[in-house]
Parts: sequence; structure tokens; C-alpha cells
Amino acid sequence: MNDPTVRFDAAINHLGVIMDGNGRWAKQKGLPRSAGHQAGVQALKRLVSVAGEYNIRIITAFAFSTENWQRPSSEVSFLMRLLAETITKEIDELEEKGVHLRFIGRLQELPEDLLRSLDRAVARTAANDKLVLNVALNYGGRAEIVDAVRKIADLVQEGQVSIDNIDEELVARQMMTGGLPDPDLIIRTGGEHRLSNFLLWQAAYSELWVTPTYWPDFDRRELVRALLAYQLRKRRFGRIHEI
Ligand code: IPE
Ligand code: IPE
Ligand code: MG
Repeated sequence: MNDPTVRFDAAINHLGVIMDGNGRWAKQKGLPRSAGHQAGVQALKRLVSVAGEYNIRIITAFAFSTENWQRPSSEVSFLMRLLAETITKEIDELEEKGVHLRFIGRLQELPEDLLRSLDRAVARTAANDKLVLNVALNYGGRAEIVDAVRKIADLVQEGQVSIDNIDEELVARQMMTGGLPDPDLIIRTGGEHRLSNFLLWQAAYSELWVTPTYWPDFDRRELVRALLAYQLRKRRFGRIHEI
């Protein structure tokens, strides 16, 4: 469905996605929550496949938060296994599509073997430039800010930065997204109107779009709805006129 009457002239460089609602999707179908997470992987695959058609260059997808460890251990270990399996299974296709895979989050706290496969996948796709797929894994905006503060304190202590030189640009560079532009649009599926600790620093001026659709049902039609809504937004960044 590539509707020729729909023009996407508002550039979305960076799209953030809070992929919520996997559990509820499964429940409504009488399936275990794990089936929802599996279907969620397919939804992300669909998004990655069509993103280029809408000139989206970067996707940051929230896959596992620093708070998600508080779920039953069976769900947590299922998710870790699913992530490892998905990377192994999808890496060739991602490579073919020119996707540069990245991860943000406290990756060092992830299981050793998962971490190794993430590192391998990142290294293998590092030269690709069609789309950056940035997966937020054991990610929390507050944890990210804490880590950035620690790094900056270190730089000051080592005499590499003086306190007077700490500005927004320096802080942004210490963020795990360092080098990526802030998200233009953040889509949240599953209906909740909250960030749930996603990209707190980077979302300062992101447009937010929430849909009640559960993540496994997110498809091209939903993406188009989000992009159309985004086009009508007036991004003022605190000024009077749109820039
Ligand atoms: C989002 O779906 C995926 C993760 C947080 C890992 P949920 O698992 O939160 O699904 P709901 O919100 O319970 O329906
Ligand atoms: C947000 O979903 C995190 C991810 C999508 C990975 P949650 O299900 O964890 O968020 P809350 O608990 O509804 O705020
Ligand atoms: Mg949820």
C-alpha cells in the first residue's frame, strides 16, 4: 500500500519506537506472553523492511528496559533467548538490506554470550548505511544520564574538561546515542501515554504519537498514520514560527 496521494515531505531522520503491548496482544488471543514477543519481532522486521520507503534513516527500538528485569525470571530469560536467536537468524537479511545494527543500554550487564553475539553483529554491519537500527536493550534514560554524569566527572577529574566547558553538546556526546540526531518522532504502541524511561534526554523536542494498537499488529498502515500525523505537527522548538 504505497498511496500515491500521500506525500511525505516532512523528513523523519530518526524514528523512536516504544514497542509495547506484546503481552496484551497474546492474552487477547489466548496465547502465552512469549508468543506476543515472538510476534513483536516480526513487527520490527516489517518496520525495518519499509522504513527506507519513507526516508527514515535511523530507528531506535525499545526492546528491554532497565525496569523489565523485574518481570518473572521465566519471561526475562525467554526475552534474552529470543534476542540472541533473532540476531543469529536475522543477521544475513539485515546485512543484505544494508542495515547498520547498533545497541544502546547497559550492555555489559547482559548475559555474556548474548553480549558476544551483539558485538559480532555490530562489527559485521558497521559499514552499512541504508538504515541504522539502534536497539535499546537493558536501556533506561535515567541510567544513561547517570552514566553520562559519571563519565563527565571522570573527564573533569582527569583535567580533560573544565566545569565551565560542560554544555549541552558535551552532555549529548556522552549519551549512548552520541553521534545520532535526536528522534523527530516517537511512536508508542499499546496505548500508554508515557515514555517509560525511553530517551529522556533526546526526547526533549520529539513529537509523540500514541496508538492503542498492540506492537505485534503494527504495520505499514499504522506507520503511515503516524507519519501523516507527524506532517501536521508544528515543530517550534520554543520559537514562535516553525523552522
Ligand atoms: C513490550 O510488550 C515488550 C517488552 C517490554 C519487552 P509488553 O511485554 O510490555 O506487553 P504488555 O504491555 O504487557 O502488553
Ligand atoms: C516499555 O514498556 C519498555 C519497552 C517497550 C521495552 P513497558 O511495558 O515496560 O512499560 P510500562 O511498564 O507500561 O511503563
Ligand atoms: Mg508493556
